[in-house]
Amino acid sequence: MSTTALEALKTQAFVDANARIVDQFRNDPDRLSRMSLDVCGLYVDVSKQSWSKSGFDRAIELFEQSGLVEAREKMWTGKEINVSEGRAVLHVALRDSDAENARLRGPEITHDVRSARDAMRDYAGAIRSGTITGATGKPFKTIIHIGIGGSDLGPRLVFQGLAPLNPQIDVRFVANVDGSELALALAGLDPAETLVIAVSKTFTTQETLANFLAARDWLIKGLGEDAAKKHLAAVSAAPDKTGAYGIAPDRVFGFKDWVGGRYSLWSAVSLSVIIALGFDVYERLLDGARQMDQHFLTAPFARNAPILLAAAQVYNRIAHDRPSRAVIPYVHRLRRLAAFLQQLEMESNGKRTSPTGELLATKTCPVVFGDEGTNAQHAFFQMLHQSEDVVPLELIAVQKNAEASDDMQKKLLSNVIAQGEAFMVGKSLETSIAECKALGFDDARTAQIAPQKVCPGNKPSTTVLISELTPETLGALLALYEHKTFAEGIVMGLNSFDQWGVELGKTLASGVLRDFTAATVGDHDPSTTALIDRVK
Ligand code: F6P
Repeated sequence: MSTTALEALKTQAFVDANARIVDQFRNDPDRLSRMSLDVCGLYVDVSKQSWSKSGFDRAIELFEQSGLVEAREKMWTGKEINVSEGRAVLHVALRDSDAENARLRGPEITHDVRSARDAMRDYAGAIRSGTITGATGKPFKTIIHIGIGGSDLGPRLVFQGLAPLNPQIDVRFVANVDGSELALALAGLDPAETLVIAVSKTFTTQETLANFLAARDWLIKGLGEDAAKKHLAAVSAAPDKTGAYGIAPDRVFGFKDWVGGRYSLWSAVSLSVIIALGFDVYERLLDGARQMDQHFLTAPFARNAPILLAAAQVYNRIAHDRPSRAVIPYVHRLRRLAAFLQQLEMESNGKRTSPTGELLATKTCPVVFGDEGTNAQHAFFQMLHQSEDVVPLELIAVQKNAEASDDMQKKLLSNVIAQGEAFMVGKSLETSIAECKALGFDDARTAQIAPQKVCPGNKPSTTVLISELTPETLGALLALYEHKTFAEGIVMGLNSFDQWGVELGKTLASGVLRDFTAATVGDHDPSTTALIDRVK
């Protein structure tokens, strides 16, 4: 990161802290047009962030001086930018049709992308048309998609986002190793009409393998061992590991290690969704992402949607030390967006060292949290409005929704728009006093109640308005966040594509699991030992 650009940003943020966002609009008539744009069916508005024009300019300069252009080029052309794992990062190749990029990446990548797509298209088509059925000849009605993390969150979000009201084939997702999740997913299903797909990049993930074996037992119980095989499929970047689980080689769909888990929804990881929604829907999703890729690659940084979102985050997190960000989709179909972004952003950028091992100079990813609006308004918005902590928000809404009546949709939209305004303008003591007086309170009661009603306001928010939730706009939205995360990682000087922190818990969990059956418990602290003893 350029230290001069960072210092300039911090200095400006210090100055900006004395101004109110609402006044910035008065002082700068071009603020809205400068800080908002329409792209790929999304209207992105960062004008309610707390930066002044200079703060905005300094944040953009930080990105311009970060080496992002070169890093972007390296990513697109297949260089090994995930240095700690020695891998290229090529999820964009899954949706890119640019011939020159394909040439630079090499024919093997293009071949891998094409053959994986062809295999998925044929398999999905055959299931949808009834050419491939279950062992008893019944068509598949339900898919049990078993995977966790990147092998779950993306496909789940896409399915919830785009599934028709009465899908021909339903998908039930199972991630947790808590057996209740699988039990609930299998409840009421006929094994003869159920396809179980295990999705795991590594095919070593404890939760996924345990769930898969349990689901396979359920099939065997219902159909017998041989017949059950016709109800199993797998998606993995380690196809050699799937045979040991009784999955026929022609039911194994691959992707390569250059697709990171949290960037993998564009790959065969979405097989269940492709079967349920149709290959054409998947292609439209890719198309929307491709349009956002083009925008990210070509738009100047000050007019580049992923950069605008990333710049707002860096301004809040690094220049103002604001440790969290709330993501509130006012879209029931995108209710899992915060969960998806938690993995995308926190697993990618929640780091403390550079790729060469030095401690980083700044804080990195904030805590990302959220829930769907308006539900969140009735849960944790109170704290966001009145606490002294500043929690920047991202408010996401869909303008046109054919599933909603005009009346309900207007009510929903009025809430999201009003919240952005309320966080910015707040409620002054004068207004609160006037309200108390209007209620007939005497002076003593007014003095007591009015301060409690004050909302300080000046809380920053970004609004993303999606014209309509379609495969294209959803693809563009998800690619927007992918590129935002990548751009932030470059500015903060870290590798967004590894996740060493997750490994420690996995290793210790294996030790604890061993201890449950071992004659003597291993060496732990007294609290951990007591917990193990209780379970034993
Ligand atoms: O929790 C770490 C992680 O490796 C994620 O990065 C990944 O998405 C998830 O586990 C699942 O991994 P796999 O797809 O290999 O089962």
